[in-house]
Amino acid sequence: MPSPTSKPRGILPAALFAVVTAVVVVLGIWQPFEPGGGDLEIAGGGDPVRGEALFAESCAGCHGEGGVGGGGGPSLVDSPIDEETATRTVLAGRGTMPAGILGGTDAVDVGSYVVQISGAVEGAVPPVAEEPPLGPAGEVQLTGPRLWGIFVSLAQPAGATWTIWLDGGAQDALRVGEIPAGQTTFADPDLGIGTIIDQYNRVIIGEQLQDFALATDELSEARITALKALIIGEGNPPGANSLVSVAGEQFAVFSDHTRFLVEARDEANLANIRFHSEHLVNIALGAPIADVDQNGEPTNPGDGVGLLGQDGREGYLPQIDAAAGVGTIAPLAELVPAVEATVADARVCGDIASVEAAGPCVNAIEARSAKLDQLWGQVPDAARASAVLALERP
Ligand code: HEC
Repeated sequence: MPSPTSKPRGILPAALFAVVTAVVVVLGIWQPFEPGGGDLEIAGGGDPVRGEALFAESCAGCHGEGGVGGGGGPSLVDSPIDEETATRTVLAGRGTMPAGILGGTDAVDVGSYVVQISGAVEGAVPPVAEEPPLGPAGEVQLTGPRLWGIFVSLAQPAGATWTIWLDGGAQDALRVGEIPAGQTTFADPDLGIGTIIDQYNRVIIGEQLQDFALATDELSEARITALKALIIGEGNPPGANSLVSVAGEQFAVFSDHTRFLVEARDEANLANIRFHSEHLVNIALGAPIADVDQNGEPTNPGDGVGLLGQDGREGYLPQIDAAAGVGTIAPLAELVPAVEATVADARVCGDIASVEAAGPCVNAIEARSAKLDQLWGQVPDAARASAVLALERP
């Protein structure tokens, strides 16, 4: 097993990274109150004179002399704050401000100094800060050809050395690694010892199994089945006959026939224009196949499932979307209508009367084909990125 700090091998697509980053940014404004300050008497009673000296030493570097700002931290002057909040901020940190710069009575004293410079009126009720809602706490992405690996990313650094367990199923929870205090990621591309997708159904993270910090929801049977179909497929090697790979083969057949159609136009071969147009329609829609060119014989170089399907029968693209969970395969939102547009053009070309008349419909199909290829190219990664489980606080 690689060390817990081993890098994810390109398993975190840019889109997911962006989401995680956004989560980190959102959570930057929320900080848990660190234990250790818990038994400290915070409410009132700090010594602001001592606090002033401490502030000059430990805080002015970022907040400026007298707290007027300028060193990377915000001005603390003229934004009223109460002593408890100020002290807790020092103990727990905030955003890029590290936790625990000062502790114990030092933190309380500096807190009371901050109250003074903040312009809070003594005895006034401090404005009640609206509690920001807690965002997602992180994610577990299932990785590798069989989804046996995991990549854990936390929205906030681990509060202590946190162990990662696989849980659920018949066995006892299985320890698979740990995230050192202050770190946010763990990667093991192939756990090789029991898998969340086979014997277990959720990930638990924390100091203790019984009193954990974060966990994913249990992965349902339906979701496991869908993810397996989408990414792993039935046999060996894994992925070879997954939905993504079989759809990719059909997509390649579709691309080939776009090319054949363009060649037929360039050769001014009307029969072939009509023939390859029929094929485009049938590869996209699958059974029942249509005799678009009306030569008395419907033909289909595709596998009959079709990229889109028809008559209430789902083709590969809707199957992929369903297996990934609605809305998670972003390129499909553009790809599906683009394939539909090519089918509409191919219906026209398939029954066209002359090479000249076929110009516009062939041109439209040709013009769209690079975009189609590009969109399809994004689907496999997007499908993998859908194998993500949110980490929640208990
Ligand atoms: C490394 C730079 C740095 C140091 C050192 C630092 N701070 Fe900060 N502090 C910040 C930043 C940045 C913020 C804003 C964080 C945010 O809201 O995302 C902040 C926020 C605060 C706030 C909250 C302000 C508000 O409007 O709610 C208080 C109070 C505070 N700091 C007090 C202190 C005190 C007291 C010390 C010294 C013990 C200190 N800081 C040391 C960078 C620092």
